[in-house]
Amino acid sequence: MESKKFYITTPIYYPSAKLHIGHTYCTVATDAMARYKRLCGYDVMFLTGTDEHGQKIEDKAKEAGVTPQQFVDNIVEGEHGVLDLWKLMNISNDRFIRTTDDYHVKSVQRIFKRMYDNGDIYKGKYVGKYCKPCESFWTESQLKDGRCPDCGGEVYEAEEEAYFFRASKYAQRVRDLLTGTDFLQPASRVNEMVNNFIDCEGGLQDLCVSRTSFKWGIPVDFDDKHVVYVWLDALFNYMTALGFENDRYHDLDKFWPADVHFVGKEIVRFHAIYWPAFLMSLDLPLPKHVYGHGWLLLDGGKMSKSKGNVVDPYILAERFGVDALRFFLLRTFPFGSDGNFSNELLINTINVDLANDLGNLVSRSAAMVEKYFGGTLPKTNAPESVDDELLAMAKALRGRYEAQMEKYQFQNALDDVFKVIARANKYIDETAPWVLAKDEGKRDRLAAVLYNLLETVRICAVLLTPFMPESAEKIFDQIGATACERTWESAAVFGALHDAVTVAKGAAIFPRIDAEKELAELEALHAAQNAGAGAVELEPFAAESVDFDTFCKSDFRAVKVKSCEAVKKSDKLLRFTLDDGTGTDRQILSGIHKFYEPEQLLGKTLLAIVNLPPRKMMGLESCGMLISAVHKENGEEKLHLVMLDDAIPAGAKMC
Ligand code: MSP
Repeated sequence: MESKKFYITTPIYYPSAKLHIGHTYCTVATDAMARYKRLCGYDVMFLTGTDEHGQKIEDKAKEAGVTPQQFVDNIVEGEHGVLDLWKLMNISNDRFIRTTDDYHVKSVQRIFKRMYDNGDIYKGKYVGKYCKPCESFWTESQLKDGRCPDCGGEVYEAEEEAYFFRASKYAQRVRDLLTGTDFLQPASRVNEMVNNFIDCEGGLQDLCVSRTSFKWGIPVDFDDKHVVYVWLDALFNYMTALGFENDRYHDLDKFWPADVHFVGKEIVRFHAIYWPAFLMSLDLPLPKHVYGHGWLLLDGGKMSKSKGNVVDPYILAERFGVDALRFFLLRTFPFGSDGNFSNELLINTINVDLANDLGNLVSRSAAMVEKYFGGTLPKTNAPESVDDELLAMAKALRGRYEAQMEKYQFQNALDDVFKVIARANKYIDETAPWVLAKDEGKRDRLAAVLYNLLETVRICAVLLTPFMPESAEKIFDQIGATACERTWESAAVFGALHDAVTVAKGAAIFPRIDAEKELAELEALHAAQNAGAGAVELEPFAAESVDFDTFCKSDFRAVKVKSCEAVKKSDKLLRFTLDDGTGTDRQILSGIHKFYEPEQLLGKTLLAIVNLPPRKMMGLESCGMLISAVHKENGEEKLHLVMLDDAIPAGAKMC
């Protein structure tokens, strides 16, 4: 018999700062999937952990005046650290790996040596521009405005002796994997990977896999002035945590290859290109799937604490409940695409879906069994045609839900469940139990109606278990479901709830939230948090003066955004087509994707200097520069495009 096993992972997160709601989103999704598979009877291995090496951590530790190990220990194990957060969020991971764990360090050294011995890692020389925060070398042509194309930060001229991985050797096999199988999901991410990294000019380049410019990494044991590149170190966590190249664990045969790696879209490149190539080099089986999920955005832009939303998962879980937060994250955002997070949306989802639709259904059903039958439903058989639609939907629900869960479409799976919940609420109105209760001759029918309601609630609660494990148990307790009526098998059967079931009406499982009051409190909390920190840092004022004539040569004009799009291959560059009043479109490239999504800028009136010499970035010509205001807040870079009154016509000169 085929053994039913399932191995699922989250990315291992950088403990360079406390984790936020975005990390929580991915971990909760992985947890829901793991719980779902366990519910279905699979032997599940769910792995998460932390990626603790690299220059960024070394620098942060230095800033904090502690050793890198002390720094990561505090973020992982300290109060409100990573472990605390996953405990709070009821994450059911089977294992937690830290890349500083001794067994992982030794395994990575062996892996590196094996790849060196088989000729896939070779020694060479790296000359290029290095970005510290991204731990990445860039070639001149990859830079944007002379800065890192990923984070926009400063880059340094660097040359170092380094080891390289022969990624180029695996280009065709990786290409086939991406284009010929369903390895990378959603499928919409395939083209971007192939076009940008394999079919690009020069093809897939060998990857620099060692560093000598800092110490905080796994030493290459046969050449210890080098440390292993963090991504090679990190990716192998998925296997070392099962015992690959170590004796700490012994589950490799059982669980490898992984069924799916859930990762954010920004790290699909590492998982869909280099990870399979590394495994090919060692002749190891490849994971079955990599799923690149979308980002949670704030106000249309990337997540950032200073944007007016409280995104600390501790605060949200404390105020709204862990299950409500878990549910919200997976109910509201399609897993494969980006979604806009807001406190309003969170409160609204809790009030509509949980307090109103689900909460009311449970409490009304249990209350009616108490009121009309003293808490225990008599055995009955009194069907009517008005039952048919509800029963049909409830019976079909498990199958529909399963189809969505198997595609990691959590939002759709929950949508199916909530359609049945809505149908059950309508059924209460249609059958009007309070009217039946007035007629002694309709006791049987009344009992049948209430049984159908409890049974619908039970099936829904089984399917909600992976999302809201504690609340589902509370629902089962209230409707009197026994252990065998809480199982996956029982969710396929309408009528599994035992005869003469006794309900136990309890407190409201999802209390309604006073949205206005709560939002005001969250805002105050946020303001207080920011006030404490409050550190706005300005760029130093220029020491040198500029003569008036030179200044007057600068031609500043109002321009209107006709279209705006992200530049392929660049995480940071936006390409603007602008109306500058001349009747001919002007193209300007600007490295501000970190701060704006293209659709936010359509139609805006911006300020541009238009007489800079044209320059090429990523092969595209930029004719001018958009003017922005920049500062730092709590050490974080902030940027606002200068926006002009829309009444100003395109081409108007600023003087
Ligand atoms: N350490 C690497 C991963 C190595 S895996 C072998 C890393 N770490 S990270 O701390 O930056 O975490 C990135 C992951 O956190 C994303 O890929 C995503 O899963 C999750 N998220 C972080 N911010 C997020 C949002 N704003 N929205 C959704 N998920 C986000 O990259």
